[in-house]
Amino acid sequence: MNRSVIIGTGSAVPKKVVTNEDLESIVDTSDEWIRTRTGIKQRYIAEDGETTSSLATVASLRALEMAGVSPEEVDMIVVGTTSPDMIMPNTGALIQKHLGATKAFGFDVYAACSGFVYALAVADKFVKEKPGSKILAVGAEILSSITDWQDRNTCVLFGDAAGVVLLGGSQESDRGILSTHLRSDGRLWELLHIPGGGCVYPPSAEMAEKRDYCIRMQGNEVFKHAVRSLAGVAREAMEENQLKPDDIDLFIPHQANMRIMKKVAESLEIPIDRVYVNIDRYGNTSSASIPVALDEANRSGRLKRGDLVLLDAFGGGFTWGAVMIRW
Ligand code: UT7
Repeated sequence: MNRSVIIGTGSAVPKKVVTNEDLESIVDTSDEWIRTRTGIKQRYIAEDGETTSSLATVASLRALEMAGVSPEEVDMIVVGTTSPDMIMPNTGALIQKHLGATKAFGFDVYAACSGFVYALAVADKFVKEKPGSKILAVGAEILSSITDWQDRNTCVLFGDAAGVVLLGGSQESDRGILSTHLRSDGRLWELLHIPGGGCVYPPSAEMAEKRDYCIRMQGNEVFKHAVRSLAGVAREAMEENQLKPDDIDLFIPHQANMRIMKKVAESLEIPIDRVYVNIDRYGNTSSASIPVALDEANRSGRLKRGDLVLLDAFGGGFTWGAVMIRW
C-alpha cells in the first residue's frame, strides 16, 4: 500500500519578539494574567515586509534542504492560512514563485487554526494518488495583521509563524500518515470569526475604523468547544487505528491555551510529558502552530523512526481534525 511520508520539516518566525511585559503598555493586562490563563510568555510579530508567504518560503526551503529535494522537484504547495498576503493570488502560488518551484501548482485551504491539518489531509490524498509526488503542506500566518491591538481579549493570544512539511510517497506499509479525520460545524461560526472584509461586509472606511477586519472571539465559549472537539476527534483517530492512549509517543495539539491542552490530555489519558508544548514561546499561531511544533520535535531528536504521532487541531468555523502518523 502506498503511504505518504514526511521527508522534511521546516519552520520560520519573524525577528521581533514581543513579551507579555511589552503588551502591558498597550492594553490593560498583566504578564501574570496572560501566563496563568494561557501559558504564553512571548510571541513573534512580523515587521519590515515579513509576510505570510515570505515566512512560509523560508520554512519550505528548510524542509526541502532536510530532504535533499530541490524546489524544481515540488509538485504541489497547499497552504492552510487565514492571513494570506492578499485575497488574490493565493499564498501557495506566491510561495511557488518565491521558491522557483516551476512545475508545482499552489492553492490555499481556509480552515482557521485547523488549516494545517486540513492541508496535510489534502496533500496526503494527492500523494496516495501519485506516489512519486513531492508536496509541501504549509501552515503560515501573520495574525498580527488581523489582530485588534486595542482588544485585550484577543491581542495577548496571537503570534506570527510558518511551519511546513514535505511529503513524499513510500511503499513501506509500516510508516507514514495512517489516517486523517476532518470535521466542521458552521452553526457556531459567530463564536470565532472576522466580521469584515468579505462580500457580506466589504472593506470600507467604517469597517477599518471599527477594526472589523480583525479576529473576534468569545473565548470562554470557544474554550469548552475546543476541549470537547479536540478530545473527540483524537479518540476517533486512535479507535480507527486500534490504538490506545498509551501507544501515542507524541501528542501535538494546536497551541491555543495551555489549560486546553492539559484538559484534552487528561480526558484522553495521555501523560503530559508526551504532549508537545511550545505555546510559551510562540503564542497561538493558528495554522502554523502544529507544523512549527512538529519541526521543533523533529529537529530536537524527540521523534524516532516508528514513533506514533497524533496531531490535533481546532479553530474558527468551527473546524477541527486529527492526523495519525507513524514516524
Ligand atoms: O485558536 C483557535 C481556538 N481558540 C481557542 O481555543 C481559545 C479558547 N479560549 C481561551 O483560551 C480562553 O477563553 C482565553 C484565554 C481567551 C480567556 O481566558 P478565560 O479564562 O476564558 O477568561 P474570560 O474570557 O472568561 O475572562 C475572564 C476575565 C474577564 O474579566 P471579568 O469579566 O471576570 O472581570 C476578562 O475581562 O479576564 C478578563 N480578561 C483579561 N484580563 C487581563 C480578558 N482578557 C484579559 C487580559 N488581561 N488580556
